[in-house]
Amino acid sequence: MSDYDFDLVIIGAGPGGYEAAFDAAASGMKTAVIEKDKVGGTCLNRGCIPTKAIMHSSDIYRGASAGAAFGVDVEGLSADMDRIIARKNQVVATLQDGILARFKKEKITLLQGTGVVKDGHTVAFSPNGDGEEPRDVTADKIMVATGSHPFVPPIPGADLPGVMTSDDLLDISGPVPEEMVIIGGGVIGIEFATVFYDLGTKITIIEALDGLLPTMDKELGRSLKMNLKKKSVDVHTGASVTSFSKDGNKIAVAYKEKEKEFVVPADVVLVSTGRRSSTAGVFTDEFLEKHPDFMNRGQIKVNDQYQTQEPSIYAIGDAIGGIMLAHTATAEGRNAVAAMNGKKGEIRMDPVPSVIYTSPEIAQVGLTQDEAKEQGIKIKTRKFPMSANGKTVIEDLDRGYIKLISREEDEVLIGAQLMCGRASDIVAELAVAIGNGLTVQDIANVIHPHPSFVEAVMDTARL
Ligand code: NAI
Repeated sequence: MSDYDFDLVIIGAGPGGYEAAFDAAASGMKTAVIEKDKVGGTCLNRGCIPTKAIMHSSDIYRGASAGAAFGVDVEGLSADMDRIIARKNQVVATLQDGILARFKKEKITLLQGTGVVKDGHTVAFSPNGDGEEPRDVTADKIMVATGSHPFVPPIPGADLPGVMTSDDLLDISGPVPEEMVIIGGGVIGIEFATVFYDLGTKITIIEALDGLLPTMDKELGRSLKMNLKKKSVDVHTGASVTSFSKDGNKIAVAYKEKEKEFVVPADVVLVSTGRRSSTAGVFTDEFLEKHPDFMNRGQIKVNDQYQTQEPSIYAIGDAIGGIMLAHTATAEGRNAVAAMNGKKGEIRMDPVPSVIYTSPEIAQVGLTQDEAKEQGIKIKTRKFPMSANGKTVIEDLDRGYIKLISREEDEVLIGAQLMCGRASDIVAELAVAIGNGLTVQDIANVIHPHPSFVEAVMDTARL
């Protein structure tokens, strides 16, 4: 085997690609990862981690602002955006170092540059910088884990300075913006609304559909809208943006709601209207001509083993569409490596927990009431208000609840929605329960710690 011949070459070092590399190396495969940017992908560089690092700062600011109600006076409180961003960069760098150290330990070759798939066993590699010559890298198997990027609809003025995607907003500098308009009330829009509301920015959300978080259970979106309205976040659903234009130092955002035109000013506009798979330029034109049915609307088509139409090429994560979450990409990558080694992937791809980091947090796993009804499943629903939970009262959290959905016939848990403190952690207990066919009584009969947010799961199960 030459230095550039491997058992597996992975294109993309996001949580799909790098975790797959760790598994592949552990299984004895000689593995290389091609990455043109920093390791960590969207999750670590432009997504999960940086947003939550900034949110930790905004959480501290919110907590301190409310200090007086808890007997703690904080004088001269202020938020320094530049230092918040600098700390976020430090967090990201620490985690990048961790991935690089692991690559070294597992003897995974990191090739910094761009990879283009030529055929089932060859990737043309163009190194970053001028030092090295482009060359072919060969492998028994190839995995494409190239992720996704923000989608910006063609709205007039979308290229004005100050109109940003989440990528740009994570590196904002200068003072905390006074006024922000967020286009799209989905996951990204709501998380940034939470951060900047807490830092004192006046927020307007413009969402095209009838409710916020349209991919989640409807009641979550409705409850969230109420919580946001209580905080004077201006939420417009069923509204569409028509243009952005410059108005002195501000951006004028024109939108239509119930057939009427309105204009709202902004220092910063966040466009968070969904993401698209990053697959352009990943395959040569000749390859795609030979495989005319390789993609569907920019997403790579795979079978249940994550194998593409070229059997030695696998694809996972946001590049194949589906649920665009870091933990889904990781699970797909691990199962794909198992398949390459002739084994059955052991990670369950159902149920997939999802979390929105708001205050309080929102999480969902398994089926919603509507989905269960669509599938003709008769259900029983239990809902517990978090206002009756000790920890919620202690922390004075906003309105929330836990809802458990079980099959009527045997009480097996099939879905759960949470809006409560630590929902991001609690949802894992419910994912394990759903994944293992536990009943609501199985949960009710296990002692949960008191006082805690998670005891509300037991309280819900006992209803
Ligand atoms: P999204 O699909 O969640 O939400 C986009 C929203 O924009 C939708 O509600 C849509 O109706 C609305 N929209 C689309 N075009 C519009 C227009 N012209 N005007 C007004 N509204 C419009 O997409 P989002 O929030 O950009 O997130 C992208 C991906 O990133 C998702 O797959 C999400 O799961 C993932 N993500 C996950 C996070 C988490 O797990 N905590 C955090 C952030 C992102």
